[in-house]
Order: sequence, then structure tokens, then C-alpha cells
Amino acid sequence: MLVSLYQNNPAFGQVEKNLDEVLSAVADKSFDILVLPELFATGYIFESREEAISLGDIPGKGIVFDRLKRLAHERDALIIYGFPEIAEAKLFNSSMALFPDGTFKIYRKTHLFNTEKKFFDPGDSGFFVFEFKGARIGMMICFDWRFPEAARKLALLGSQVICHPSNLVLPHCPDAMITRALENNVFTITANRIGTENRAGQSLRFIDRSRIIAPSGHVLSELPHDKPGFVVSEIDPQLADNKQITAGNDIFADRRPEFY
Ligand code: ACM
Repeated sequence: MLVSLYQNNPAFGQVEKNLDEVLSAVADKSFDILVLPELFATGYIFESREEAISLGDIPGKGIVFDRLKRLAHERDALIIYGFPEIAEAKLFNSSMALFPDGTFKIYRKTHLFNTEKKFFDPGDSGFFVFEFKGARIGMMICFDWRFPEAARKLALLGSQVICHPSNLVLPHCPDAMITRALENNVFTITANRIGTENRAGQSLRFIDRSRIIAPSGHVLSELPHDKPGFVVSEIDPQLADNKQITAGNDIFADRRPEFY
């Protein structure tokens, strides 16, 4: 299975331009799964909840969904991307998993980061796993990395590949994802963004270093600093099913939850 990510540098609020850039960058690329960053088409720092809603999408509607639906169909691929999700009176920081037949599943970010709490409602989807081309896939978003329970829950549910749209600003996540992969014996795909946003009295620099990591903790693919780009790795998702790390240790069977 070919798993990939694209690391972009969105211009705030320029949804169509940001979408065009991603679509042209992946036009000649091959993949079964493509992971895009958190809020990849809108940018990150909203000035108000109203502004975030004005750039958000009702699931299954809007130009971002329509054009990525076409891409998923043409490539027979799963596309995972972050977007502001309008759900009646609520607004979630969500990750869409869009299938080739146009159906989809949505994960709503559980752990909101810092000022996101001003704009977004806390996610209520919980963590879940679904299948694509025989692989079991789970999603988490950016700051969820800081809570080891997120990846652990996905792994305990049977996830072989954790897709992780991100807009990272804290420095340790790319390295911490090695631990998340290793401690759960799963593949992880962290699609981050680059660039700086100065809005609403905040200045954030996004830290790039998007990575695809194997259950062994080995970094399979990584992007260079501060450049947009695409990377792809060929993986065997079934490698994540074997939790045996020595003749005498299975990292899931050996857990002692009664002491945790
Ligand atoms: C983050 O969760 N976007 C830092």
C-alpha cells in the first residue's frame, strides 16, 4: 500500500488557491492514501468564531469536498484532510476521511490547542477505526499527539495506520511520533504545514518535519525544513498486527491495565 502526505503553506483564507496548489502538486503522484494537514485549505489563526464559520464546510458540501472527492474517485484513493466542520450550531476542528465512492467519515479533534478553544467546540466523535483496501485506519489531529491515550486508544481498537493531519507549533511532536509508533507498534503519518501566520495578535511558526513512521520507530519518509512537498512510502499494514517484540513479550498482551 502506498501511503503519502503533502506538506503545504496555506495563505490564510484563500481556500481555492490553497486547494489548487495541493491538487497540482499531487497531480502526477501515485498513492492509495493521501494525508493533508489540519485546516489545510483555510489557514489556522481565526480572528473570530464567525470568521472560522465563514471558511468552514458542511460535510459533503463545498468546493474542497467536491474537488477532493473527484481526486479520490479518479485515483481510487483515500484522502484525509483537516477542515473547519460546521455541524448545525457547532463548529469542530475536524479530519475528513473521503473514500473513492464519495462516502466519508469524520473525526472531530478531541484535544483543542490553546486559542482553538475560542473558536471550536471540543470534538465529540471519539476515536474510531475503519477499513480501506484491507488496512485498518485511525485518525487523530495535531495536539492529540500530546495525549498518549489518543494513539493508544486507536491502536487498541485495531488501527494499523494512524493518520495525523497537523499544524504543529510545539517542537517535540515529530520526535514524539516515533514513540507513538513504537509504543503501539503502528504506522503513523503526520502531515504538517510550514510557514508563519501573524493574525489576531498572535504569531505562530509552523514547524514542518512531516513524517511517515514505521512500527519499528524507523522514519520511512520525511520532508526537509520549511519547504512544501510530497512524500510517499510503501508499507505493509499487517506489520502493525504483530505486537510481539521479544520471544517473551507482546506489548499489548503484557499490559497490566489493573495497575494503570
Ligand atoms: C495544534 O494542535 N494545531 C497545535
